[in-house]
Amino acid sequence: MKVAVITGASSGLGVEFALAAEKKFPDIECFWLVARRADRLQETADKLGCKTLLISADLSTEEGTAVYRSALEREKPDVRLLVNNAGFGVLGDLAESDPGEQAGMIDVNVRALTVITVCTLPYMDRGAMIVNTSSIASFCPNARMTVYSSTKAYVTSFTRGLAEELRPRGISVTAVCPGPMATEFISVARITGNSKTFSTLPYCDPKKVAAGTMDAAAAGRVVYTPKAFYKFYRFVAKILPHSLVVKMAKT
Ligand SMILES: NC(=O)c1ccc[n+]([C@@H]2O[C@H](COP(=O)([O-])OP(=O)(O)OC[C@H]3O[C@@H](n4cnc5c(N)ncnc54)[C@H](OP(=O)(O)O)[C@@H]3O)[C@@H](O)[C@H]2O)c1
Repeated sequence: MKVAVITGASSGLGVEFALAAEKKFPDIECFWLVARRADRLQETADKLGCKTLLISADLSTEEGTAVYRSALEREKPDVRLLVNNAGFGVLGDLAESDPGEQAGMIDVNVRALTVITVCTLPYMDRGAMIVNTSSIASFCPNARMTVYSSTKAYVTSFTRGLAEELRPRGISVTAVCPGPMATEFISVARITGNSKTFSTLPYCDPKKVAAGTMDAAAAGRVVYTPKAFYKFYRFVAKILPHSLVVKMAKT
């Protein structure tokens, strides 16, 4: 069965990814939706016309990724699209932060994304696509979101390396690097009222980000940055020394 796997499909961008993928790739027969909140996964499933398999798992734990791995071994799907989208951020000074929460960010944004990709690759063939949700935070470190921006630097770097590795197998790998979006991310990260930068930056529309990402994946693009403003920021962060950009990029 031709399957699309979407992690973080219980809210925000993940929901939009499911809807955009269903529209863009009508040959997909079943959507595997992964996140912790089963009720919210069901709400996403109700929005889709396709068959769904809901996998309620905490991806910050090894048990969580093992639940997904067991589903692969049991169902032996033909994975046409894997969207590694689950993730979260935390705003604030590292010295005053909760070490467990910081480590949890690495577990979900980096470890789970890596483990899920490795487990899924044996079920992917020529023409399949991997999408990794990165961020503009991957272009230059963001003080006060130091761990988050480091995890996203990993995601973009991982994408570039893997895209090159998988080119001969005809599997594309795309990192999408959105700017801020008005999703639950903002409250989870405790951003509201705590960051001048976030209150002045232009926001991206998750619907447009998801549709643009599906086009970018189908075209085999390795890094996709929605919105002209952030394309320009990516260029600036590439040509100027990070010792300079890091001062402007503080959250
Ligand atoms: N919103 C922004 O400003 C922004 C900007 C750039 C990049 N991003 C990235 O976009 C992605 C999606 O975020 P969003 O904006 O759509 O925020 P969101 O609405 O908070 O969605 C985050 C998703 O990740 C899932 N998730 C978080 N922790 C998890 C865990 N331990 N196990 C399993 N699933 C987990 C959540 O599901 P459950 O809570 O149900 O587990 C949810 O479905 C993230 O990777 C984020 O870093 C967001």
